[in-house]
Amino acid sequence: MTEDAGPRVLVALDFADSAAALALLARLDPARCGVKIGKELFTRAGPALVTRAVDAGFPVFLDLKFHDIPNTVAGACEAAADLGVWMLNVHAQGGPAMLAAARERLARRTTRPLLIAVTVLTSLEAADLAAVGCPGEPGERALQLAALARDAGLDGVVCSPLEAAAMRRRFGADFRLVTPGVRPASAPRQDQKRVLTPAAAVAAGADHLVIGRPITAVVDPLAALAAIEAEIMA
Ligand code: C5P
Repeated sequence: MTEDAGPRVLVALDFADSAAALALLARLDPARCGVKIGKELFTRAGPALVTRAVDAGFPVFLDLKFHDIPNTVAGACEAAADLGVWMLNVHAQGGPAMLAAARERLARRTTRPLLIAVTVLTSLEAADLAAVGCPGEPGERALQLAALARDAGLDGVVCSPLEAAAMRRRFGADFRLVTPGVRPASAPRQDQKRVLTPAAAVAAGADHLVIGRPITAVVDPLAALAAIEAEIMA
């Protein structure tokens, strides 16, 4: 990944209100990290919070995982782009027409956000996939859906750090890999089950690491970020 390729670390703003999110933003440095805004915070704080983060200079990954008919998803992507976000995502399971519609709507812009696909949620196991009528091994399905996203011209996928090496081998250097499930060796795992350290995730091919509580739930978030940066550079 080159220097202008965006932030290595995306801090997950998993807060229930905008005051807590803004307090953390005030303590972070937009030159050193981006932020991820997901469904909970967005539903509570809305586009105004996204705009505040963008205006503060943070690259924003709007993690709303759009999944609907092509026209609706294209419009939602355009609305997200109008907020000035740096990256947004859609579900690859929305299918080729939905992915193409999202990609084409964003391509009309002079500058556009990166468009990333969610493949198989890491909370799903083989039995869950079978229950929704898509039997198969989650890792294989993830590669299949990532290929669909790549063929539709998307910029990359969200994946487990444990899938990153296979994704990188299959899709090459120009396909963005965004990985949650990252834990510094010294940090508690909390509810994350299958994790890699930041250095191991980068070595496996991850471009951007989504990291929440190891940065957001500690006394000194900037020091935690600095320790993660040092670990990656070592
Ligand atoms: O606090 P923590 O580092 O576990 O936060 C990880 C973030 O990445 C959360 O926002 C979580 O919802 C998200 N995420 C994840 N695993 C996935 C997809 C998203 O942990 N498979």
